[in-house]
Amino acid sequence: MLLPYTHEPFTDFTIEENKKDLLDAIKQVEAQLGGHYPLVINGERVDTTDKLTSYNPSNKAEIIGTTGKATKEHAEQAIEAASVAFESWRKVTPQERANILVRAAAIVRRRKHEFTAMLVKEGGKPWKEADGDTAEGIDFLEYYARQMIELANGKPVNSRVGEQNNYIYTPTGVTVVISPWNFAFAIMAGTTVAPLVTGNTVLLKPASTTPVIAAKFVEVLEDAGVPKGVINFVPGSGSEIGDYLIEHPKTALISFTGSRDVGVRLYEKAAIVQKEQNHLKRVIVEMGGKDTVVVDSEADIETAVDAIVVSAFGFSGQKCSAGSRAVIHEDVYDEVVEKVVARTKELTVGNPAEPTNLYMGPVIDQAAFDKITSYIEIGKEEGKLAAGGQSDDSTGYFIHPTVFVDVDPKARIMQEEIFGPVLAISKATSYDEALEIANNTEYGLTGAVITNNREKIEQAKYDFHVGNLYFNRNCTGAIVGYHPFGGFKMSGTDSKAGGPDYLVLHMQAKTISEMY
Ligand code: SER
Repeated sequence: MLLPYTHEPFTDFTIEENKKDLLDAIKQVEAQLGGHYPLVINGERVDTTDKLTSYNPSNKAEIIGTTGKATKEHAEQAIEAASVAFESWRKVTPQERANILVRAAAIVRRRKHEFTAMLVKEGGKPWKEADGDTAEGIDFLEYYARQMIELANGKPVNSRVGEQNNYIYTPTGVTVVISPWNFAFAIMAGTTVAPLVTGNTVLLKPASTTPVIAAKFVEVLEDAGVPKGVINFVPGSGSEIGDYLIEHPKTALISFTGSRDVGVRLYEKAAIVQKEQNHLKRVIVEMGGKDTVVVDSEADIETAVDAIVVSAFGFSGQKCSAGSRAVIHEDVYDEVVEKVVARTKELTVGNPAEPTNLYMGPVIDQAAFDKITSYIEIGKEEGKLAAGGQSDDSTGYFIHPTVFVDVDPKARIMQEEIFGPVLAISKATSYDEALEIANNTEYGLTGAVITNNREKIEQAKYDFHVGNLYFNRNCTGAIVGYHPFGGFKMSGTDSKAGGPDYLVLHMQAKTISEMY
């Protein structure tokens, strides 16, 4: 019997011992840099001519490690292995599959700071964000294990006299997991183990910028007892193998987290029934956001400032949940803006592997750096630069937290996902107008409202159209099992990771009726 689920506690790095443990772990990870991690197909390490190289975004000369780079032939072999393994894995009991997740959680918990240190080095995450990422990964393992046990016997249905009816959930098949770099551990692990625990076999294609931590997690799953062929590790380029995996007639379920454009393309491709395909593919996509913190005239000002700054600049705004827009009522606009700007100027930026606990690290790569800095130039045309604007890619990809004020709600920096430390602020003349602006993007992922007025809270519950709506706090940092996460509109299929409906998306319900 498992203890009830509670989320993994966060580490307090103001405690000297915790700080020392993490710095030791960073040293340990630094001693392993440059290691090579081949593909894993059917439990075998498979080497490839081409390799993926993972670099430290804080120091582009530093190689984190290399992994194999799968070709179509490797993808085909992995699909074959996963198809064969599916026939036995689907019959392993849910309890046994859940136990593997619990064991994997225990392994990661024992090596927690090592995974956090890897996120600091490979993902450029500051300590708090890296620690949160590791904790969330552990949470997914623990939470989905318990969810599977709850679903093991399906759901109750009625039976008549002389009839026994059952309604159970069965696995779907070979699953393609394409995971992002921004939660290089948590989302990678969560989207991998959800199909596994529900009895599917997996081809994991991690983000090309953070493949090493994914390789380490595959090792953990193997140590925890995932049989060969059930998890296959196939890093590679999207154009070379991504489409191939998605279009293959034998893949049944696609789970993607990443950008809107890639997600939409993949969604369309997966809908086309290929020759020799005898099923319709299921698709889970989690895409972008252009998330808003709304500040009402009746708001607690300090809460508002905190919410705006944390939402905009946590992990340099590289979250689909990031509050990259703030819409502030004119009555409190000047005061809130002044305080947000002052707070932003205090934020520290640098290499997160340094012994000082910095607030922000680098952005992930050159492409991100170029995109974000070009939006800063656009922002200078569209609004008033009130903080930041500086950037430097000579050693790593560093961009200072940047605030634009007095921005038109229809401006590009208020509409387009920048995925970087750039905050745009607009003024609203009423609460209704503020909500209208908050809804005026094609996304619908997260949002926050800061107000002390109960009626306005109730109004936003109906009118603010986002998958994760928060009051009097920031709009980032959803916790598994507490704040199921996923969005509306072009943010995705609202699949609510870390929630009670998530695992069912990976299974097919089956009705069994027997007369006796
Ligand atoms: N779940 C994360 C958050 O809430 C984003 O992916 O910030």
